[in-house]
Amino acid sequence: MNPLKDPLENRNGQLFIDGVSAQTLVAKFDTPLYVISERRIRNNYQRLQQALSRNYGKIKIFYAMKANSNLAVLKILESEGANVDAVSPGEVATALKSGFSADRILFTGTSVRTDELKFLVDSGVTINVDSQSQLERLLKITVPKTLSVRVNPEVGAGHHEHCITAGKQSKFGIWEQDAVKAYETAKKAGVQHFGIHMHIGSGILDAEPFLMALEKFLSVAKLVHDQAGVDFDFIDVGGGLGIPYKPEEKPLDVQYFSDKVLSLFKAKTREYGLGEPFLHVEPGRYLVADACVLLTAVNTVKVTPFRKFACVDAGFNTLVRPAMYGSYHHILAANKLNAPAEETYDVAGPICESGDLLAKDRKLPKLEEGDLLAVLNAGAYGFSMSSPYNTRSRAAEVMVKEGKFGLVRERERLEDLLRGQTETVEWMQ
Ligand SMILES: Cc1ncc(COP(=O)(O)O)c(C=O)c1O
Repeated sequence: MNPLKDPLENRNGQLFIDGVSAQTLVAKFDTPLYVISERRIRNNYQRLQQALSRNYGKIKIFYAMKANSNLAVLKILESEGANVDAVSPGEVATALKSGFSADRILFTGTSVRTDELKFLVDSGVTINVDSQSQLERLLKITVPKTLSVRVNPEVGAGHHEHCITAGKQSKFGIWEQDAVKAYETAKKAGVQHFGIHMHIGSGILDAEPFLMALEKFLSVAKLVHDQAGVDFDFIDVGGGLGIPYKPEEKPLDVQYFSDKVLSLFKAKTREYGLGEPFLHVEPGRYLVADACVLLTAVNTVKVTPFRKFACVDAGFNTLVRPAMYGSYHHILAANKLNAPAEETYDVAGPICESGDLLAKDRKLPKLEEGDLLAVLNAGAYGFSMSSPYNTRSRAAEVMVKEGKFGLVRERERLEDLLRGQTETVEWMQ
């Protein structure tokens, strides 16, 4: 299957991203470089929005900004009418800075400190609590107008164990038997508007686990409604919609997903007497992953008696997913798209750890120093999970749009990495 999906294009063997040459970008901004397509983000958002609104009038999409919190990306989604799912005070502040008003931000944190709760209250965002402890500390600060509770619907799913965020082993959410108590506590304190929330995991390509969790989740909503006397303004089913990373994987059929999820949602809310609450969904990956490629240059080709390595300048400091989750990212030789894939390489980064491989056993054209590789689908959990490990700068990011480009994040400099450090200690007692 052809991995070159819109906005990627092969022009005479050279990779173009929404009409911009990869070679031109690296000549100007160097590597490693994240290249983000504005049009693809808009298309992804609109496709999902349309698929959901065909089935229900009260839909809100909350972009899970942990996937990619670049201000320019947030601005695009703000202009599309998205809301934001934020998980830290830093994310809330960034979303506010990029133009989202507080009433468009839902905070869903775990292990939240009391001073962070104070910040959230002052910011005016809606808080989705993850524990009874968090709820009680929040109620000591204020009685919020609206409150949501994250429920563990007992069914989790995801592309990797680390990305399953519900079920028996999960630290997230409140279990059924404690959920009623949480709502009763909030109601007694004077909270008047309520939401209920779940998020089962990430990278789900098939509606089935989602439907199983939704069924359980809605039964918890019924219990809360019946026993705590709570009506819901919104029911938030979380994110987790996957994208195909391997060329042979099929994309999630969002219309099918919408039809299935909404027919269950509508049937159960009717059956349980839950009225017509807003349905919230919280996609991160689905909106941004395939809107971005990571460009990285080959600096060394190294052949050992056992392996052949294409050594590049992006390692797990730049893109951690392969090292952290064993994730597959398709890789192309951006300047040799027409050359036959006749060699097998491990694509290795510059980090001093054996696990620093972006790919293993990858068929690619014969590579030389100076070749340019494009790591596809790098827009979600790419830059946002990158680090300065090995004292290497975080990459630059550029946006492309119909043949034009612009820098949206400068490459980190050594001064940035050293800021705040001192060579000598000022001892205190
Ligand atoms: C509460 C919550 N909502 C939404 C998401 C988005 O997940 P995804 O990027 O898989 O859609 C996450 C991801 O961890 C999350 O924790």
